[in-house]
Amino acid sequence: MATDKYMKIIENISDLRQTVTAWRQQGLTVGFVPTMGNLHAGHISLVAEAHKHADKVVASIFINPMQFGKNEDIDSYPRSMQADQQKLSTANADLLFIPTAKIIYPKGLNQQTYVDVPNISQGYCGESRPGHFRGVSTVVCKLFNLVQPDVACFGLKDYQQVQVIETMVNDLSMPIKIIAVDTIREPSGLALSSRNGYLTEQELSIAPALSQNIQWLAHQLKIQSRFNNFSDFSGLANKAAIQINNAGLKTDYIDVCHANTLQPATKNDTELVILAAAFCGKARLIDNLRVSLPSKA
Ligand code: PAF
Repeated sequence: MATDKYMKIIENISDLRQTVTAWRQQGLTVGFVPTMGNLHAGHISLVAEAHKHADKVVASIFINPMQFGKNEDIDSYPRSMQADQQKLSTANADLLFIPTAKIIYPKGLNQQTYVDVPNISQGYCGESRPGHFRGVSTVVCKLFNLVQPDVACFGLKDYQQVQVIETMVNDLSMPIKIIAVDTIREPSGLALSSRNGYLTEQELSIAPALSQNIQWLAHQLKIQSRFNNFSDFSGLANKAAIQINNAGLKTDYIDVCHANTLQPATKNDTELVILAAAFCGKARLIDNLRVSLPSKA
């Protein structure tokens, strides 16, 4: 593998450990940005954020088979290794780790010890994609053990994923600070995602309906919160789902939840998040929005 002038590219564990240990011996701190490649401006903003918190930044590209369901085709997941390397190098990443599945799961997936984060992994994307979050928490735990970062950056577009990882880090006392970074959007409001590449021009024109209806729902929540006895969160969410479907998408879920527990919102909750997923052609899009309501005196 060619080595970029500024960015080390490493495929094996011993070279990775050696490089990180040498940095540590010099008293340097390490930031980490795990990815599955096909990088866009959202990923690059994670690298920029990591640079604010650490002396050295490690990125990884690993398309993790454990987080793909039986009906999800990992082989067709978009790959763009050359362009990704160029983008990471331009973003001044210090090291790119690109392990193979054999390196991460030498005994195969069925023999692999896994990490299951209860409760928070269950609903929403966890329900639509059984086993997905087990795959995410297992690979992130493994990558954390390999890179041993001080901080790690994740995009808030995957809101539930961030909550799962924060819970894992707290529950397992990992000495790593998780930094959640705002979603980067197209001018249309569509959240940037590696999966947007699946969208045709026609689908691209209707895809913003997801974020538009999340915004609509947030606005309705703010209006309704003026009424003391309002608690029909699911009624409003259902309306938003119908509007998303009318725009030509197929709603998977849209719900108003407590921002930290991800339990369905109740009357006195003020820190909320709207979580949503919808199919647009072949692509399954996800998005979310935090909403803070005034507390009811
Ligand atoms: O968000 C992603 O790209 C993946 O879920 C992650 C965190 C790199 C784990 O494979």
